[in-house]
Amino acid sequence: MDQTIWVAGDHGGYILKKEILLYLKNNSIPCLDCGTDSEEIVRYPYYADKVASAVSEGRIERGILLCSTGVGMSIMANRYPRVRASLCTSPTVAHLTRAHNNSNILCLGGRITGGMEALAILKEWLSTGYEGGRHDISLGLLEEAERSLCTGGKWNHRNG
Ligand code: RB5
Repeated sequence: MDQTIWVAGDHGGYILKKEILLYLKNNSIPCLDCGTDSEEIVRYPYYADKVASAVSEGRIERGILLCSTGVGMSIMANRYPRVRASLCTSPTVAHLTRAHNNSNILCLGGRITGGMEALAILKEWLSTGYEGGRHDISLGLLEEAERSLCTGGKWNHRNG
């Protein structure tokens, strides 16, 4: 699978997106800028779609999405099958969501998280591997729920 990290953001994520891309390029990490290209107001679902659809379809392994808070991007991205988008506000969350959730999209809030903190989050998210083991059980449940819910059904699980 293509290891290029696709990065997209709306106007609220534009400034931080530039810093993220600069870091990736300076560290020779393959990346692709999927817009937006200014602080002019745009609609975040369109930009989430660029990255989340590529992850969902298996065209790329991982992506990064930015908006003002990171919330809109994470809401949109998590509508796509096989996407596990994580809004991270600290390196600890970034570490745990890679290790436990096998996060494949990092969401950041351009007007919430400062540049230094965002880079620390990014480094942790990039360098942490999925632990597997007991976490496979929860990821399996996510897949099972996704299959039922995305075909208009209920998730009929055995727990409650
Ligand atoms: C845009 O103003 C803002 O709503 C967006 O960037 C994002 O934070 C939404 O969740």
